[in-house]
Amino acid sequence: MRALEQQELTGPEGLRVVDVAVPEAGTGQVLVRVGAAGVNFADVMQSRGTYDGGPQAPYVAGFEAAGEVVALGDGVTTVAVGEHVIGTGAGAFAEYVVMPAGGVVRVSDGWNDEQALGLTLNWATALISLRPLGRLEAGNTVLIHAAAGGVGQAAVRIAKHYGATVIATASAAKHDVVRRLGADHVIDYRTVDLTKEVLRLTDGVDVVLESVGGATFRQSIEVARRVTGKVVVIGAAGGEATISNWELNFQHPVHVIGQHLTTTIQQAPEIFAAALEELHRLIKEGVYPPGEPTVYDLADGPKILAELESRATVGKLALRPW
Ligand SMILES: NC(=O)c1ccc[n+]([C@@H]2O[C@H](COP(=O)([O-])OP(=O)(O)OC[C@H]3O[C@@H](n4cnc5c(N)ncnc54)[C@H](OP(=O)(O)O)[C@@H]3O)[C@@H](O)[C@H]2O)c1
Repeated sequence: MRALEQQELTGPEGLRVVDVAVPEAGTGQVLVRVGAAGVNFADVMQSRGTYDGGPQAPYVAGFEAAGEVVALGDGVTTVAVGEHVIGTGAGAFAEYVVMPAGGVVRVSDGWNDEQALGLTLNWATALISLRPLGRLEAGNTVLIHAAAGGVGQAAVRIAKHYGATVIATASAAKHDVVRRLGADHVIDYRTVDLTKEVLRLTDGVDVVLESVGGATFRQSIEVARRVTGKVVVIGAAGGEATISNWELNFQHPVHVIGQHLTTTIQQAPEIFAAALEELHRLIKEGVYPPGEPTVYDLADGPKILAELESRATVGKLALRPW
């Protein structure tokens, strides 16, 4: 089968289209014919070896896909051949991928594979971070970084649905997209002092969805409401950042909460299950519309990942292997 292999951990340029054997579904697994594979920022981090616990090269890249189940491993009873599912499995940038049967979700009625991408990696991440962890409530103010991105767009929609005022950050060229989603304020963090601007708009935000890290992490801490404000850390696209116990005690008494989806699924499956239930309700209510990823051929993967890394992309991206 055709697949995109990371041959060296040198970033997106280390990816090559190769021919490899179709994998086999083992016990508790399903084999999926990939209709569309989701591209995520974690793919960029894996390509540079900066994703904690990420694979060593060479490996077939990608880990999110939607497609048709074509074979079942031993013991699988929860899903049938012919059903379309969305899920995660190592090696998704390929014509076929193996996924754990327990982790796949049926594609919603009337949606195609491309439209289904993002359910777990973007929407569940945004929902779990904002609601059970960030405890977002109607009337709160939330700061959403990278609001035009895959997770960010889902987060803006969710926060608006639950009655929050949304302050979003995005590169200037992406502001119209974020405003159309309903964000109340959009800040170009590259030309404006983010801390000053957020504190001009509010007396502190209740929840920050912190996916950037680096110098931005400190700004997120600075704008969180003293005592009750929560900074939910889900990413480090801009690098590592630190905060000391002294700062948390005296300067910035706020809540700093880490959230990593894989760990949440493993350690708190009830939180993940509740999020999926809520997302299905939001789909029925039309709050969560079919996704509209920008879809490219598998061979364009290196270029698309490089664009994602350089902040040139908007919204969800996908690769089509056929
Ligand atoms: N914890 C979890 O379980 C989990 C799950 C999924 C995703 N994530 C994290 O959520 C974040 C968003 O993921 P995504 O896949 O939806 O990507 P994305 O938001 O579509 O793309 C990343 C965006 O981040 C912004 N950004 C700000 N500073 C950046 C920097 N120094 N380098 C690169 N991008 C920068 C850029 O938007 P602007 O140009 O508008 O600033 C860029 O387009 C990532 O940090 C990812 O690792 C975490």
